[in-house]
Amino acid sequence: MDKINILYEEEAIQKRVKEIALGLYDTYKDEEVVFVCTLKGAVFFACDLLKRYPGDARLEFLRVSSYEGESSTGKINLKMPLDAEKINGKHVVIVEDIVDTGYTLEYITKYIGDMHPKSLVTCTLLDKKARRVVEIDPTYSGFVIEDLFVVGYGLDYDQKYRNLPYIGVVVKE
Ligand code: IMP
Repeated sequence: MDKINILYEEEAIQKRVKEIALGLYDTYKDEEVVFVCTLKGAVFFACDLLKRYPGDARLEFLRVSSYEGESSTGKINLKMPLDAEKINGKHVVIVEDIVDTGYTLEYITKYIGDMHPKSLVTCTLLDKKARRVVEIDPTYSGFVIEDLFVVGYGLDYDQKYRNLPYIGVVVKE
């Protein structure tokens, strides 16, 4: 396997995920929340977030894609739609792995927003703020990172490295 420079160790990720989960719980308390996890990248984050969330939670999935290799194509493809009945009238938290140009988050926010949730917020583990093309900011974010292509903890490079328990950058030979 290629060498990876670690950016966030497993412990640091878990600590931050717990903080976010408790922050969300502070907002919703006893009200039911639907967490919408975007596949595949956010799946590790969503699982850990829900395990740390002490309230009433449901989990749904949505699959979109825009990336090829290391760059966003800007064109979002909806690969797995969501049933509007599961969103209508509910408190919804969109769970993303990383916000880069912002195209994906903008698309998903509009897609879910059109299903008339009771409330809607976005929660990303990583935010590459400097790369933003679309004016959109996640409501909750784990870590703001520089313009680096990162892998691990669900994030891939051409489907590889998702299984790493930490987040890092592939060192190219
Ligand atoms: P955006 O539409 O440009 O904001 O891209 C968001 C999506 O691109 C994320 O959900 C990821 O799937 C992917 N992505 C963006 N940056 C990275 C990265 O550094 N590593 C792995 N995937 C990334």
